[in-house]
Amino acid sequence: MNTPVSTSSSATAKPLPRIALLATGGTIAGAAPDAANTAGYRAGVIGVAQLLAAVPGLDAIAQIEAEQVASIDSKDMPLALWTTLAQRVNALLASDDIDGVVITHGTDTLEETAYLLHLAVKSTKPVVMTAAMRPATALSADGPLNLLNAVTLAASSAAAGQGVLVAFNNRIHCARDVTKTSTYAVDAFQSPEIGVLGWVQDARVEFQRRALRPHTVDSLLTADMPWPSVEIVSSYAGVSRVAVDALVAAGVRGIVVAGTGNGSIHATLQEALTEATARGVAVVRASRVGSGHVMHNGAANDDALGFVSAGTLNPYKARVLLALALAAGIRERGELQRVFDTY
Ligand code: SIN
Repeated sequence: MNTPVSTSSSATAKPLPRIALLATGGTIAGAAPDAANTAGYRAGVIGVAQLLAAVPGLDAIAQIEAEQVASIDSKDMPLALWTTLAQRVNALLASDDIDGVVITHGTDTLEETAYLLHLAVKSTKPVVMTAAMRPATALSADGPLNLLNAVTLAASSAAAGQGVLVAFNNRIHCARDVTKTSTYAVDAFQSPEIGVLGWVQDARVEFQRRALRPHTVDSLLTADMPWPSVEIVSSYAGVSRVAVDALVAAGVRGIVVAGTGNGSIHATLQEALTEATARGVAVVRASRVGSGHVMHNGAANDDALGFVSAGTLNPYKARVLLALALAAGIRERGELQRVFDTY
């Protein structure tokens, strides 16, 4: 005699994770006049409901609560939106009703927002950012699969405590390390020198390593602030001191210099930057090369010149960290260097 076996899973089924999806615009929400057009489109015009509708099977992975936080091309990211995003993510994750957050964003400044949130979010729950290189209307649009993978990752317990993650083209990147390295390819993001944290594919998540630097709940930095003015200048053949002098005259609080090689700086620019430090401007020495690190007292004698070295942070991420540190009241050069050596 056959023993009856219940096929109903409703009594025992684990409830699906509740994921908040915050949409901010970008190419993932972009629309072009025709499907073969992957460059002449408008970013940030498709709403979050339509983004979700393009991803079959999401409802089997998570319960999604979607919010349209902004509809912008991320090149136009205003600092106030950074604060809004950080506050919204913190508020959502403080609630017992939300298990993780996914943020859709433009690729152009994703690495900056990701690092900001990596330091300013105060939760161990998963936070995953994603984006797309092709607009939603394109043949072989990459947004839907990236979004599916981002939700899969945010719904995974393996993503907890890993800081802000970027799910792109099946790879999982740490917010601190990831950078955009192609103007057109769908494999546009890399974590130079250091590599990816893992992979997400076909509903499976695999981490190979963890980020070691403090982030999220272990970071003392927050984004609840008026943003101090921090700008970036670059060193190149024949550079003048005009930009640095104008920035100092305008009252900037910090300057990041994208130096050549190991953060070396043209003598003319270096003189202007040294004078800037004497006027209370924090100067951070980064590199325009795109990978490697800027060694403290290496290509320039930071201690003698009054500079801070950025280590492995690229100039754009160094600017984020300098702004957060200055906003936290950290001004003294040795303390700023400790911040850069820590985060
Ligand atoms: C943007 O950054 O908003 C536009 C470009 C992109 O998302 O690829």
